[in-house]
Amino acid sequence: MRTKIAAGNWKMNKNYQEGLNLVLDIQKNTQPSDVLVILATPFLQLKEAIHITRYNPHIKIAAQNCHHEEKGAYTGEVSANMLAAINVEYVIIGHSERRQYNRESNEIIAQKVNAALKAGLKPIFCCGESLEIRNEGWQERFVNNQIERGLLHLSAEELESVIIAYEPIWAIGTGLTASPEQAQDMHFSIRKKISEEKGEKLAQNMSILYGGSVKPNNATQLFSQKDVDGGLVGGASLKASTFIPIIQALENDPT
Ligand code: PGA
Repeated sequence: MRTKIAAGNWKMNKNYQEGLNLVLDIQKNTQPSDVLVILATPFLQLKEAIHITRYNPHIKIAAQNCHHEEKGAYTGEVSANMLAAINVEYVIIGHSERRQYNRESNEIIAQKVNAALKAGLKPIFCCGESLEIRNEGWQERFVNNQIERGLLHLSAEELESVIIAYEPIWAIGTGLTASPEQAQDMHFSIRKKISEEKGEKLAQNMSILYGGSVKPNNATQLFSQKDVDGGLVGGASLKASTFIPIIQALENDPT
């Protein structure tokens, strides 16, 4: 059985109090279920968000990034160890915005994955192709390469702690969504790659999330796909009124 996950990626939104209000709002309006809710807040709110949700096993808090080195002269950076020390459990790694705006390469991302695992954090590893690549038709080869270079140096045991998020760049923040079939095809291809390289058992147990303009009105269809185990949600995770229906769509999904 794979864990169903509804993750919210707040990106650089919400000041301190707004963010904590949103955590409280989501906690108040969700019931225990088989869905794990993960909230990736800005660094500033992590500690207090963890405190607010400390008795709630269904809501976990994630960081949106960490540095690949353990410590040192990296002004403005936060290490995986620092996150682990305040009981952060998850960290998003390799989001396309960081790949693009911060020039994060597959090699740096692989090092971040290592740093996260070493600190005891669970990486939410993002991958996804540009519109150009999709139009040219080699999106599966591109994403498989990201998986290979970012993740496949890990042992099957290490990979058990990893969540994969497929986020086609052309669908992020654009209002365009991959069709349920496009999402399913890619998730199937990712799972097949993991299975070929690391074994079927691991591949069947890994949660693979879809991200890219997930909204209350398309969540049910996306989640109904066999290999889509949940969502990584940006814009629609910024309000309880749009994020809760997405969580509920996943709760109601029988697949
Ligand atoms: P979006 O963002 O839901 O606003 O498209 C998703 C993401 O970037 O994680």
